[in-house]
Amino acid sequence: MIKDLRKIPHILVAGQTGSGKSVFLNCMLKSLKAPLPDSECKFIIIDPKGTDYDMWESDKHLMCPIVKLDAKMAVHKLHEVSELIKERQQKLQDRKVKNIEEYKKKTNNCDMPYVVVVIDEFADLMTVARKEVEGLVQYITQTSRAVGVHLIIGTQHYDGKTLPGAIKANLPTRIAFYARTSVESRQILGERGAENLLPCADMLFSDAGRAPIRIHTPYID
Ligand SMILES: Nc1ncnc2c1ncn2[C@@H]1O[C@H](COP(=O)(O)OP(=O)(O)O)[C@@H](O)[C@H]1O
Ligand SMILES: [Mg+2]
Repeated sequence: MIKDLRKIPHILVAGQTGSGKSVFLNCMLKSLKAPLPDSECKFIIIDPKGTDYDMWESDKHLMCPIVKLDAKMAVHKLHEVSELIKERQQKLQDRKVKNIEEYKKKTNNCDMPYVVVVIDEFADLMTVARKEVEGLVQYITQTSRAVGVHLIIGTQHYDGKTLPGAIKANLPTRIAFYARTSVESRQILGERGAENLLPCADMLFSDAGRAPIRIHTPYID
């Protein structure tokens, strides 16, 4: 299954703990890295757990060191992402172009790599700065597509309290791993189904409300 991230710019990946979310997120990053040199694609990784992305330490594709364990630092990083978006918007305006693709054509592909921001264990950020994070996610998801910044959120908590509708509304591409009940499946996908998946490495991919597609995720170690 191959998808162009530019067409599904922001993704919510949710499911029970141990269902394979972090392994899958690592696979996504690896498959972006394979065809794209670090001059064209950079990653920002926020890993509150602090153990799941060690394979990326000192990788050239990282835009900054992995943000681990410190949810406040992670919120700060989101502020930096919103600043980056503003800088890039200014650059597009200066060149009188509408988006990163036109900018790349005009400048011969220089100084504007795609940036993929992965936030795993997203609920941890919500516990330290709920309103602030909500505002930042809203700003980033609504403005970043044109400037080549993508947001991928992983979470094992997705009930209405932890993950409010305002955030979900900005993440129309949904990936559901195993969920305990059909109610939980609805919280992720807006429909039932994830409760029937295998407990691990099995997911439903739904793009902007389209019928979910079942996919067996690859394994990376
Ligand atoms: N595609 C896969 N194939 C085989 N085993 C997998 C796969 N994805 C995950 N696993 C196993 O499940 C464990 C939990 O996966 P993980 O991604 O950490 O779960 P989560 O992030 O949802 O809590 C992994 O350590 C690995 O052993
Ligand atoms: Mg995980």
